[in-house]
Amino acid sequence: MKKLVVATVLAGIFLCALGCALADTPVQVAPTGTGVTMIPADQWENTYPDVYASYMANQDNAEIVDHVKEYPMLATVYEGNAFGTYYGSARGHYYCVQDLLATGRPHKLANCFTCKTADFTYMTLEMGDSAYALPFEDVAADMKQDVGCFTCHANDPAAGLTLTHLYLVNAMGADADKVAAINAVCGQCHVEYYFDSDSKATVLPYTGMGVANPDDMYAYYQALDFADYTNPRTGVRQLKAQHPEFETYLGVGSVHAGMFTCADCHMERVTREDGTTYRSHLLVSPLQSEAIMATCAACHADLPGFVHGIQEKMEARTIAIGYKLEDLTNRLADAVASGQYSEEELNVIRELNRKGQWYWDFVFVENSEGAHNSRLDNSCLDKAEALIDEALGLLRR
Ligand code: HEC
Ligand code: HEC
Ligand code: HEC
Ligand code: HEC
Repeated sequence: MKKLVVATVLAGIFLCALGCALADTPVQVAPTGTGVTMIPADQWENTYPDVYASYMANQDNAEIVDHVKEYPMLATVYEGNAFGTYYGSARGHYYCVQDLLATGRPHKLANCFTCKTADFTYMTLEMGDSAYALPFEDVAADMKQDVGCFTCHANDPAAGLTLTHLYLVNAMGADADKVAAINAVCGQCHVEYYFDSDSKATVLPYTGMGVANPDDMYAYYQALDFADYTNPRTGVRQLKAQHPEFETYLGVGSVHAGMFTCADCHMERVTREDGTTYRSHLLVSPLQSEAIMATCAACHADLPGFVHGIQEKMEARTIAIGYKLEDLTNRLADAVASGQYSEEELNVIRELNRKGQWYWDFVFVENSEGAHNSRLDNSCLDKAEALIDEALGLLRR
């Protein structure tokens, strides 16, 4: 009896400790409205010299390849969308604005700066959603820094992490306090998003983490009757998925979601000469960091070999299904041109194409190539392949 009471009391304290800790540390969100200011990154150089130097080292992550040259099928799969002409691979945060200006893709509105620069984030906080609809050229000259200290700390790094991209706060909804800020700061950009058709504001296709998965996001887009673009030859109203690292890593099937945060694997802890430590702000692959790999070694004796094994399989499968999607696009375009199919028949195939491409793209554009959550990725590819096969089966030879 006594034991039970003690256990209950302990459990009570434990639960309260957890509950209270959550209640006491709500996600910090940056203030909005006129009067908001922004301290640019270079102003922090003297206060945080090590962190600042590591942040500037993102310049060294400069390699870039054009995915369209690498995978010519993208020109067909993304036909009608600017990504079909040039699609640069991701590189260091230092290059965000430069790469956006150099894409050769046409940019109409300022909303393209959403994930690129703290200068624009600050405008959205000051002006509200109307900032997203400003003409691109009107704001381009003011975009001077890339992802800045402000992006993840607002104006006070000493106060810890603060969210400045409000659409993420809206998307997490009632779950905002359950998502660790150290993951959420990255989720400000490494997420699936779209531009609202009317306001042009950046919006994520979910409210609450329970529906932050590819199935519910698709249902969301269906309910909204949303399309990012229409393929000119097939008439398929297509969705363009965007780098969903946050949803993939925190999604069902993730092995490490409860154990490690984005920073644990991408921002190593560096020990200074005096024994104190700081987080490197050079964002790297864990495979580029001896310090991070040392924390994995107990379970992964050969982390690079293990990760590359997963990635090679995922890459091969994704590319193979991509070529099927290219085939479907071309054959559906022929079917449309042939005049041999009724609009009803075509619409059934178009819907299968739209949905199959969504599941495929969700994996193709995720930057870890299977490392974040291979179970989720494989389940998406299973769905994509089944949908594409079904569509191909409906096309007469
Ligand atoms: C992309 C988001 C992001 C940006 C941009 C960013 N930080 Fe951080 N910062 C973090 C994260 C994540 C941590 C780790 C927090 C933790 O360990 O709890 C951190 C930790 C810190 C800390 C705490 C001490 C430490 O090293 O653990 C300081 C100080 C800091 N950042 C300063 C800066 C400065 C100065 C800049 C701009 C030069 C900057 N940060 C830019 C995300 C960011
Ligand atoms: C303000 C938006 C933004 C935030 C916040 C952000 N990122 Fe990024 N990140 C980007 C963009 C955009 C790129 C691609 C830059 C380019 O290629 O020009 C990128 C690139 C990267 C890369 C390099 C990819 C490569 O292939 O070399 C890594 C790693 C990365 N981010 C990790 C993180 C982590 C971890 C966090 C949170 C601590 C974070 N990012 C927060 C926008 C952001
Ligand atoms: C358990 C470790 C782990 C965690 C936690 C983790 N990642 Fe990764 N991430 C990886 C690995 C492994 C890769 C593949 C690296 C490679 O290909 O060299 C990767 C790749 C990436 C890339 C592409 C960078 C590149 O160099 O190719 C980005 C961007 C990224 N992760 C962002 C995130 C974000 C955002 C989060 C949190 C939502 C996160 N990661 C959480 C392990 C992790
Ligand atoms: C306590 C043991 C343990 C530690 C420590 C650990 N891992 Fe893992 N990791 C696992 C297990 C177990 C799996 C699942 C293996 C499988 O699916 O075959 C896994 C899977 C993974 C995967 C593949 C995930 C997927 O969805 O297929 C990656 C990537 C990974 N770990 C990276 C890391 C990195 C990076 C670190 C260090 C920061 C790390 N792990 C530390 C046990 C661990």
